[in-house]
Amino acid sequence: MTQYIEDSAVQAQLELCKKIEEKLKEIYGEEKPGFYIQTLGCQQNEADSERMAGLASLMGYVPVNDPEKARLIFINTCAIREHAETRALSFIGEYKHIKDKYPETIIGVGGCMVTQQHRADRIKHSYPYVSFTFDTGALHLLPELVWGAMNKKSRRFVISDKYEIAENIPIYREKPFKSWLSIMYGCNNFCSYCIVPYVRGRERSRTPDAILKEARELVALGAKDITLLGQNVNSYGKDTGGMDIAQLMREICKIEGDFRLRFMTSHPKDASDDLIAVMAEEEKVVPHFHLPVQSGSDKILKAMNRRYTAEKYMGIIERLKKSVPDVSITSDIIVGFPGETDEDFEMTLKMMEEVRYDMVFSFIYSPRVGTPAAAMENQIPHSVSSERMNRLLKLQDEISLERNERFVGKVLRVLTEDVSKNNSSMMTGKADAPRPIHFEGDSSMIGEYKNILITSADKYSLRGEIKE
Ligand code: 5AD
Ligand code: SF4
Repeated sequence: MTQYIEDSAVQAQLELCKKIEEKLKEIYGEEKPGFYIQTLGCQQNEADSERMAGLASLMGYVPVNDPEKARLIFINTCAIREHAETRALSFIGEYKHIKDKYPETIIGVGGCMVTQQHRADRIKHSYPYVSFTFDTGALHLLPELVWGAMNKKSRRFVISDKYEIAENIPIYREKPFKSWLSIMYGCNNFCSYCIVPYVRGRERSRTPDAILKEARELVALGAKDITLLGQNVNSYGKDTGGMDIAQLMREICKIEGDFRLRFMTSHPKDASDDLIAVMAEEEKVVPHFHLPVQSGSDKILKAMNRRYTAEKYMGIIERLKKSVPDVSITSDIIVGFPGETDEDFEMTLKMMEEVRYDMVFSFIYSPRVGTPAAAMENQIPHSVSSERMNRLLKLQDEISLERNERFVGKVLRVLTEDVSKNNSSMMTGKADAPRPIHFEGDSSMIGEYKNILITSADKYSLRGEIKE
């Protein structure tokens, strides 16, 4: 059964925000102090950061873009690979000078990295200016933690081990037109390389009522692109015995409004034909399926504890392509998993050639403390993994280019997201896959759909012009 944090406990935290706001007025007067959140990792973390921002706003802080100007800093960490942890530690190190310059600054570190005891201990001992850490299940305790830090109480390092759902935490959405909607938390799969089940607990599905209510609110607030989020959204509802993901999506599609619906991430062992049917039938559902395969070799898939074979995976892809014409398919692939031979790796390349993914997110295997794969023999030397990675990238570049070229001459409905980084007269947006599409425009278009005639393609992006 899904466990919920008692609403009274959440309300008590929200009440505390008022006391913090009063105290901030005493310290800073009428000018509200800033908060800054450094987010690392996946969309789930981004969604969590929106809750951290919601709480910080309720406490009376205002968002700022420069950590120097912030008197409250959160670092929302990721633990998926070593690189993510190194980056988090380097941000924490970087913010020391801010604390030295403005000692009243409160620095808190949350997320997956500090849900691991050895990492929380390291922060405690090596970064004495960090006021507190909070695990992924303790986000709702932020008011209490900030209040403690303001009142110079002792430092806290919360690892609650209780992964309950806290509803009713305020959410601050920077871009309300593009919204995350968490439908479940945690993961039960224990893929042998992955730290997620250890840092985000078991699967907990939110109720359809809570999700539908939030979806309606999002649409009313102007959401044009909603992504249903979870580590494995295909098993939504299995813990509660209620609606499954396909039924839930059909219900969300009934909400009136001009929005599109996506979902992330799927596990092939649970990807149902009904879900494919929803994508085929429902106009609001974007024809993009992110279906991480991880490896094309059955031996490696078994060692990864993925519980499907390459053949079963290809079966899903075949049904998907048949049912959803011109579907965009993307994947995650791990290179250099322990025991991966050249032959195993060739099977991954072969699968990529067959599927012809629009995009692939590829990662060199990174051992994670406490996972079974970290203790496996036959760890692959980095030089071998990185050579394999280069081959994979080269192949995928060719395929991505071919996949992107299929859009040239076509008109795509693009949601404008931002001004291009390198050219302020160019806008960037997305259609189905998370591939940027650039076109001339101005910032007033942000958050609007535009029909874009695609004029050229390269391996990473498309270019086009507005066609009314
Ligand atoms: N090393 C490398 N990549 C990993 N992933 C998860 N754990 C690891 C690890 N230990 C990748 C998987 C997953 C994606 C989110 O991150 O491909 O799908
Ligand atoms: Fe990690 Fe596997 Fe769960 Fe995805 S399904 S979060 S890869 S354990």
